[in-house]
Amino acid sequence: MPNQEPTAAFNPIYLFLFISVGLNIFLVYSGYLSTDYNTLSYTTTCTTLKEKPLENSTILLIWIWPFGKKFDLNSCSAKFNIDGCHLTVDRELYDDAHGVLINHRDIKNDLSNLPTKPRPFFQKWIWMHFESPENTRRLDGLNNLFNVTLNYRRDADIVLREQFIIKSEDTEDKIFPQVLDKKDKLVCWIVSNWNERHERVAYFNELKKHIDIYALGRHFGKQLSDTQYKETLTRCKFYLSFENTNLHYDYITEKLFNPLTLGSVPVALGAPRYIYERFVPKDAFIHVKDFSSPQKLAEHLLSLDKNVDEYKKYFQWRKHFEIKLVSYPEEHACRACQYIRTKKDYQVFRNLNNWYWDAINDGT
Ligand SMILES: *[C@@H]1O[C@H](CO)[C@@H](O)[C@H](O)[C@H]1NC(C)=O
Ligand SMILES: *[C@@H]1O[C@H](CO)[C@@H](O)[C@H](O)[C@H]1NC(C)=O
Repeated sequence: MPNQEPTAAFNPIYLFLFISVGLNIFLVYSGYLSTDYNTLSYTTTCTTLKEKPLENSTILLIWIWPFGKKFDLNSCSAKFNIDGCHLTVDRELYDDAHGVLINHRDIKNDLSNLPTKPRPFFQKWIWMHFESPENTRRLDGLNNLFNVTLNYRRDADIVLREQFIIKSEDTEDKIFPQVLDKKDKLVCWIVSNWNERHERVAYFNELKKHIDIYALGRHFGKQLSDTQYKETLTRCKFYLSFENTNLHYDYITEKLFNPLTLGSVPVALGAPRYIYERFVPKDAFIHVKDFSSPQKLAEHLLSLDKNVDEYKKYFQWRKHFEIKLVSYPEEHACRACQYIRTKKDYQVFRNLNNWYWDAINDGT
């Protein structure tokens, strides 16, 4: 019996599927569909379905992925114990968004990539920034624009930084004995951003005349993966936690907290010691200004290399404290949402430029 059905190629259903799939691919590649579509499409085959926020959840719109870094938008509850937050990158939710998170570095000079639609009366814009003012270009037009600041400074609305947390009970340090055997390097430094004008470069150049420094990072043509970075820090007795700025208060970064966490003793250069001591127990680190010259510092490090008992003293804090690191930018987004959810008052940040770039004082 002859087949009365049209052959597959002419079946209108196949033709329809072919066209609609092709159209979708075209739309995604040509940017007509939002990135949100891309992230959603693997969870659903229905191309029109959008995630719908729960009735009473707080909507935080991440305007641009910070530094292009994508992360799981559904982790606030599980990872940070923050409930009721709906994080999204779907700009169609702008009119309903309680907060809009904007990372300073992603703002164009002429502000042309900021939202242009009228701002709903209840919506707050959150300015997020985690670099020092010295190394950040200042943009005109940021005053009277944002409502909330998210920053490492203690006087920001939302403060987020690595912290020493008091243990509920003293426990013997386990890290130190483990890492001590692995240490085959005395002093290490990993640096990408090399600038002759930075104090840290001058200090390094002088220090290395008096002690061997195992130097890595992009500047030295040895870029490290995350795992290699951690391994390296574990192998080093001392790590040069040299910040690229020293003018601004409260600016102490993962350059200090990572070696502390991984069992290396940081040698700090940046803010004065008393500022470090606001955040870090004073016997957990060495400060370059504890010594009158790089040579004197080198002598101290060499003597600690020979005296394990003295060296061990830098690990005593581990009995009483643990370090809480911050996971960027996931935690930042969740904290921002939590803040918007709980703090309902009207807020305007009048002079952001002045607050961040002009106020060079130490916060005392
Ligand atoms: C949000 O709505 C759900 C469902 O109506 C309700 O069970 C829950 O208690 C509400 N949560 C808050 C914080 O109002
Ligand atoms: C947020 O700041 C803008 C700009 O200063 C202001 O117009 C708006 O009313 C503020 N909104 C809230 C909810 O505080």
